[in-house]
Amino acid sequence: MSTPLSIGTVDDIEEGEAKVIPGDENGTGNDIAIFHAEDGNFYALDDTCTHEDASLADGWIEGTEVECPVHSAKFCLKAGTALCMPATIAARTHKVEVNGEELLLHPNVDAIA
Ligand code: FES
Repeated sequence: MSTPLSIGTVDDIEEGEAKVIPGDENGTGNDIAIFHAEDGNFYALDDTCTHEDASLADGWIEGTEVECPVHSAKFCLKAGTALCMPATIAARTHKVEVNGEELLLHPNVDAIA
């Protein structure tokens, strides 16, 4: 079990928005995007689209999905599943915990265990 990383408060990310925790800060070497989904919950995926080199944090959140800004593949924020072409590979999920007002990221811990 990894040590959770404090990444700010729930007020730091508006609903429908995302923020990136750089790879050198989160310890995985890969940028991780934290999404505040339209169901009110927070989810984390590797920020780089599994199709090509695009930031999912720059995409569009709809419900509990994010659409890649480059070729419009969609990913499930809960499970990372690629929901439509051109992406066929799931995005890696990371567990996000809300502790009061604080957001905690568990890098490399799957959101759905
Ligand atoms: S780079 Fe994301 S769908 Fe192509």
